[in-house]
Amino acid sequence: MIITVDGPSGAGKGTLCQLLAKHTGFALLDSGALYRLTALAALRKGVDLSCEEQVANIALGLEIHFKPTEEGVQVWLAGQDVSRQIREEHIGMAASKVAALTPVRTALLIRQRAFAVDGQGLIADGRDMGTVVFKEAKVKLFLTASAQERARRRIAQLEQAKLQVDPEQILRDIQERDKRDTERKTSPLIPADDAILLDSTSMDINAVFEQALSAVQAQQAIVKA
Ligand code: C5P
Repeated sequence: MIITVDGPSGAGKGTLCQLLAKHTGFALLDSGALYRLTALAALRKGVDLSCEEQVANIALGLEIHFKPTEEGVQVWLAGQDVSRQIREEHIGMAASKVAALTPVRTALLIRQRAFAVDGQGLIADGRDMGTVVFKEAKVKLFLTASAQERARRRIAQLEQAKLQVDPEQILRDIQERDKRDTERKTSPLIPADDAILLDSTSMDINAVFEQALSAVQAQQAIVKA
């Protein structure tokens, strides 16, 4: 059983997927982390992010490890815990650049599919989980929210972490990432034809979780019938 959750940055997919994974006991694939790790590894090696071949080689050779802990999943790159580093704003932006390169997407495909283990459920979080990576998934969710609301949430997170915030820049970055994710030629961000759309603009995470859960249960009932 695979549940895919796609949608733009900041719509709440990460939190929703963690709640769904906890509720169902399914494994979790954070595919965005793979693009972030590729970007971080490329930046560390001083590779030009637009060089398809070199970045794809980095994606193929990534030495990574996901370690579940009480606080969430730790992400390790080449023996180092980079969980916090990969969440930085500039890494997200770099990830969206490398994610637009077709050979990089191809290089990460097998790694992502390997998360689906026979007999074990999977919650797959990303942009193209329901359209490309797990096209055969029986339950597909597409979680979105307005760019303004997503920027507002991001600003609140940064302020809580006592980090410097330029609100207009945050909104511009979100819009730039949306544009790159939706307009790229390979695996653009679009809902799968059979996806259930959820808009979290005026819902808190509990309401989103409840709606997602009912959508999953309704879909499971249809599949079983
Ligand atoms: O979800 P997250 O913000 O961690 O993803 C970082 C970037 O990786 C996104 O902006 C997107 O460009 C890219 N991505 C993607 N396909 C996925 C997951 C993430 O293109 N399945």
